[in-house]
Amino acid sequence: MSTEQPVRGSGRGRSGMFRTKTVEQSIQDTEEPEHALRKDLSSLDLTVFGVGVVIGTGIFVLTGKVAKQNAGPSVALAFVLAGIVCGLAALCYAEFASTVPVAGSAYTFSYASLGELPAWIIGWDLILELALGCAVVAVGWSGYIRSLMDNAGWHLPGPLTGPHHGDFGFDLLACLLVLVLTGILVAGMKLSSRVTAVVVGIKVTVVLIVIIVGAFFITGANYEPFVPPTQSAEGAGGVAAPLIQLIFGFTPSHFGVMGIFTAAAVVFFAFIGFDIVATAAEETRNPQRDVPRGILGSLAICTVLYVAVSIVVTGMQKYTELSTDAPLADAFKASGHPFWAGLISFGAAVGLTSVCMILLLGQSRVFFAMSRDGLLPRFFSTVHPRFGTPYRSTILLGLVVAVVAGFTSIDVLAELVNIGTLFAFVVVAIGVVLLRRARPDLPRAFRTPFVPTVPVLSVLASLWLMLNLPAETWLRFAAWMVLGVVVYFLYGRRSSRVGAGPHRPEPPTV
Ligand code: ALA
Repeated sequence: MSTEQPVRGSGRGRSGMFRTKTVEQSIQDTEEPEHALRKDLSSLDLTVFGVGVVIGTGIFVLTGKVAKQNAGPSVALAFVLAGIVCGLAALCYAEFASTVPVAGSAYTFSYASLGELPAWIIGWDLILELALGCAVVAVGWSGYIRSLMDNAGWHLPGPLTGPHHGDFGFDLLACLLVLVLTGILVAGMKLSSRVTAVVVGIKVTVVLIVIIVGAFFITGANYEPFVPPTQSAEGAGGVAAPLIQLIFGFTPSHFGVMGIFTAAAVVFFAFIGFDIVATAAEETRNPQRDVPRGILGSLAICTVLYVAVSIVVTGMQKYTELSTDAPLADAFKASGHPFWAGLISFGAAVGLTSVCMILLLGQSRVFFAMSRDGLLPRFFSTVHPRFGTPYRSTILLGLVVAVVAGFTSIDVLAELVNIGTLFAFVVVAIGVVLLRRARPDLPRAFRTPFVPTVPVLSVLASLWLMLNLPAETWLRFAAWMVLGVVVYFLYGRRSSRVGAGPHRPEPPTV
């Protein structure tokens, strides 16, 4: 297909910050030997990647917190709602990934449809989802490991267990985990997917144990009331309340129907990751067929498991008594089964490693794609001569995430990760519609059904969840995005390769 076509949305059609990078240009870039990633993933590898990153802190930790504070047993409905929002987004991601099979996910999709500035904004936004998400999960992992170590009588000195209640501290285990995973990723994709396959196997087994064994310990009375009555939330006024409650002037509350929505906006974290399958499109043997399968397959498996786990756990223990640190294991402990509790803690600790690794992988690939386009220094997009991986971006990000993980506490950051991800969903859904109009000619192995209805529903559903996040999360998100726009105008806009025109000079080899 020729890039000479005078199509709307091509690099020639627009200039400045809304210039786009044609899909052909994106695919061509992946063929430059110096900047080409190895293509050796199958749809099974991708599904394993998807499940590997999706099942994590969300189900192992947030289920209990949200059931106790926001929704009671109806947390199962919150998972269904969040799953529907993600399903709509997945249908959009799948079309984009099968049309633009290039590293970089939502960033690349936006470059092809919306233009350079929106693409930059998305790339910057994905840092919230991926790098920060990785740091959050590493801290959660460290908590599980410490609890296992405590059982064995080994205790880390307090200051090395991370910051607590405003006190200074450094989370040594979280930091070490990120550094080790960075090394594995630098050594190559294939090794990473093998390690992931083993870890995913253990994690899914543990989740199935919770569902199957736990089902025998359910007490029907624990489901009463299934949707607890609305309670006014003392001290949750001001910017700590969900934005939607402030906009409509509601008294901040927990539980009831609004509580289910608040819960959905939080447990949404449990689904984050299926979109990352799209970031590995360039390393897939047959992206047109395998990427949509990988995305939709992993999302479907996880939704079923989450709903089942939350029904079982809230049936095993009264929601008011669930633990907020390790709710799945503690529900077994509370019903007098410490063996199963230990096994579940072990599986959770193992399982969180793969979440962390794939978030780091996704982030390094987005960074790689942005660097290859000149929006970030090109130095970071040279691949390793032997391993075929973007080692410089991987190492740089690994070091940054390791430090952030050392100094980070989970609560606030998880909500920031959610808002960043939902924002990316909004942009991708809009992008699907725009790319259909701009480039109807492109081959699409997977087509989103009922366009524009499904993308419009996806935008509305994602915005609805965003509105159910606290106002302070919106403020932090806005501050991060403003910083990103400043960086774009100071660096990316000038050094963009697309901005250099069709006869781009070959970048210096580094
Ligand atoms: N979905 C991932 C988790 O729950 C990020 O940990």
